[in-house]
Amino acid sequence: MIAIYPGSFDPITLGHIDIIERGCKLFEKVIVAVLQNPSKTPLFAIEKRLNQIHYSTQHLSNVEVASFDGLAVNYAKMRQAKVLIRGLRVLSDFEKELQMAHTNKTLLSEIETVFLATSNEYSFLSSSVVKEIAIFGGSVDHLVPQHIAIDIYKCYDKIQPILNQQ
Ligand code: PNS
Repeated sequence: MIAIYPGSFDPITLGHIDIIERGCKLFEKVIVAVLQNPSKTPLFAIEKRLNQIHYSTQHLSNVEVASFDGLAVNYAKMRQAKVLIRGLRVLSDFEKELQMAHTNKTLLSEIETVFLATSNEYSFLSSSVVKEIAIFGGSVDHLVPQHIAIDIYKCYDKIQPILNQQ
């Protein structure tokens, strides 16, 4: 069975990668699908995010990385996927995610949403948290893969903590 893991991934974090790794054990193929959202100004352009995810998931043989626009359920149908994967971190995620799952169900009932509980160690982690830490000059080395930490430091034109430690 094919599953879609849709998201903004701006940037992908270790929490996302944990969900992808676990999804890969449950499904034949996981398509990490990056939403092209013209209404948001991302930190990283879509092509950059696709490259970052590609590089971060190269240890997994059953992952595909792609972008999509429009409704996630329509993209799932187009890719012959039956499942949308979403990670749940804390209770506050639940409300928003359940609403999205119900909405998606009304749009296309054949697509199921499967929630994976985020591992405890990443329950606080989001792309926004990563960006906020980096804006204020903190280290994100423990929150994203090393190559992405470097990309982030470059974006914010900060001294790279990763290099300072070496
Ligand atoms: O990483 P994010 O920003 O939490 O991901 C949200 C995402 C991309 C999964 C969601 O916004 C989405 O599926 N957008 C595509 C439009 C859509 O299908 N909307 C209907 C569900 S409310």
